[in-house]
Amino acid sequence: MVAARALILGVDGQDGSYLAELLVHQGYQVIGWIPKSIDTSLENIRHVLERITLVKGELGDQQDLIDCLEEHRPDEIYNLAAPSSPVASWNDAVMVGDVAGLGVARLLEGMRLVCPNSRFYQASSSELFGEPVEAPQSETTPFHPRNPYGIAKLYAHWTTMRYRQHYGLFTAAGILFNHESPRRDLRFVTRKITRRAAQIKLGLEHELRLGNLDARRDWGFAGDYVRAMWLMLQQKSPGDYVVGTGETHSVRELCELAFAFLGMDYRDYVMVDESYVRPSETVQLVADSTKARRELGWKPDLTFEQLINLMVEADLRGLSAEQR
Ligand code: GDD
Repeated sequence: MVAARALILGVDGQDGSYLAELLVHQGYQVIGWIPKSIDTSLENIRHVLERITLVKGELGDQQDLIDCLEEHRPDEIYNLAAPSSPVASWNDAVMVGDVAGLGVARLLEGMRLVCPNSRFYQASSSELFGEPVEAPQSETTPFHPRNPYGIAKLYAHWTTMRYRQHYGLFTAAGILFNHESPRRDLRFVTRKITRRAAQIKLGLEHELRLGNLDARRDWGFAGDYVRAMWLMLQQKSPGDYVVGTGETHSVRELCELAFAFLGMDYRDYVMVDESYVRPSETVQLVADSTKARRELGWKPDLTFEQLINLMVEADLRGLSAEQR
């Protein structure tokens, strides 16, 4: 049997790398799309590089997309390529809209013209709910994005859904809540905390400045979430799915766990820095993943505590190796 071909846009990112591992392991031929305009780090995928084919292109360039789809004719397309920081999206709203929003229209147009029988996954986000009108949030909760990132993701989400309805394409979207791992970018709060806790433990740093310690999020493990992406494309018919743990924890709890894992008390090192504080949220962002659990048979494997311990351990190991 000929192996199925999967194209992963954003293969060099956290999610792309976990998905590439999963698909390579299952025998897929994996084509990984990376940006051509910047020198991207391939650190996350170094261990699978020999088993995937890299393609360079830009979501802003329709021809790049058409060329890639014509050459590789993927059975499955996973779009995980987009700027990923909601806060930073205020610094370049036009670029974010072009890549995270319009880029998806370009990709779907390419798929419609070149390989309409492919199956498509769009990385939607809990940022679609932004300022949610209810908690927990499910597939029927109204969207209320609050930054250029969320607005662009909403454009992409609706485009994904409407291409399904209008053209009958197999397009699915995962509305994913925060998902973390040792490969998480340092800008995000989980990794900012786990890395700094490890640095403090090793005597390399002495404090950690954070925003609102009472902010709460529904945090899961990225390795569990890419499984949900794959499952969405194995269904008889496509749909939208909310993916999260259904539990929230505060930034304070995260600090408590990370420092305690290293035998320290976070209160001795953590301080609030107003420059990181965001407007407080009145209604909590928390997932109702009933549909994903029922239809996909998906559930997260790692608990919050296991996730934080895994991340702290990886940071401690990485930093100790750098020191040697
Ligand atoms: N980054 C950061 N830095 N966040 C902080 C800090 C800090 O010093 N202190 C408190 N926080 C709080 C934020 O206010 C927010 O409530 C929470 O920590 C999580 O922030 P981030 O880790 O930066 O993630 P995010 O929720 O803004 O965005 C992530 O999750 C979305 C939903 O899945 C990103 O992965 C997005 O791409 C994704 O769509």
